[in-house]
Amino acid sequence: KENEETISIGFSQIINNDLWRKSMDHAMEVEASLHPNVKLTIYNADRKVKQQIQDIEKMIEQNMDVIIVAPYESDSIIPVIEKANRKGIPLIIVDRKVNTLNYSAFLGADNVEVGKIAGKQIVSLSKGHATVVEIRGESITTPGLERSKGFKQILDKFPGIHKISVDADDFNSPQSKFVKILDSLPNIDYVFAFNDFIAYNAWGISKKKKPNNKIKFIGVDGLNGPNGGLELVKEGVLAGTILYPTGGAEAIKLALKIKNKEIVPKLNKLNTTLIDTLNAEIMSSQFDKISLQQSDIENQQHFIKEQLEKYSSQSNLLKALIIL
Ligand code: FRU
Repeated sequence: KENEETISIGFSQIINNDLWRKSMDHAMEVEASLHPNVKLTIYNADRKVKQQIQDIEKMIEQNMDVIIVAPYESDSIIPVIEKANRKGIPLIIVDRKVNTLNYSAFLGADNVEVGKIAGKQIVSLSKGHATVVEIRGESITTPGLERSKGFKQILDKFPGIHKISVDADDFNSPQSKFVKILDSLPNIDYVFAFNDFIAYNAWGISKKKKPNNKIKFIGVDGLNGPNGGLELVKEGVLAGTILYPTGGAEAIKLALKIKNKEIVPKLNKLNTTLIDTLNAEIMSSQFDKISLQQSDIENQQHFIKEQLEKYSSQSNLLKALIIL
């Protein structure tokens, strides 16, 4: 269908150097490639609010069919989000929230639920008696605030649980708050870190400082593949992680529905669940199957494209011969 209209989708991502963001970009690219008329352009704001605003401005100027934004920060991008909305460009927000409702749809997992699942797991493993350290990520972001809120809602019900909260920092620095807590508190039982990467670093530093510690680490994200949370659980580095899907493929599907004038819900919730030593193996083999199927599809598409090219050059040759 060569004459099918091209659909331009622009995506404003905030960083492209961490595993979760890379995996989100990749999932978008794979899903977009399944629709030959979709042209996906990814902008990377490099953790800069100003850059993200400029990127969205650019997409508005280009009159993209749909804009997807993974916000860095919730307030400063409100004007540019509202501008897209005024111009009638559908806009999808993923992962972090923005403090306006002037967009088409939000897509992401419920972070209060993420925090609650972590809290419930600690309560059930410890039977309600434990010393827990919460290591927050960028605590001003909505996932950070909401994970903390859900975690607190559960732990507050158990007076036998003592919780200390710190912000993630450079664990190799002597100024690190987590390292100071490690030094001053002899009996930490659990650490809940706001993503698997922070959990892994906290595990590393505590192994180094106190090789015999029995701290159980719980993270968030649960990515499949090398260095992902699933692998960390399988290796026994983490006692668990809470699956936080990137929603990359779903965002493209949603964008296409909106472009096709289908009515979509304003809030599109992605599922989250606990991954622990009991289900990590089966989860990762399921995810492996999905990635295999994806690469099969990619290979087949490549093959079809090659065949089409061959066919068109052969038929051109044939036409030329007939004319002769
Ligand atoms: C990646 C990340 C994830 C986390 C999400 C929250 O940049 O920190 O680890 O789940 O962003 O916004």
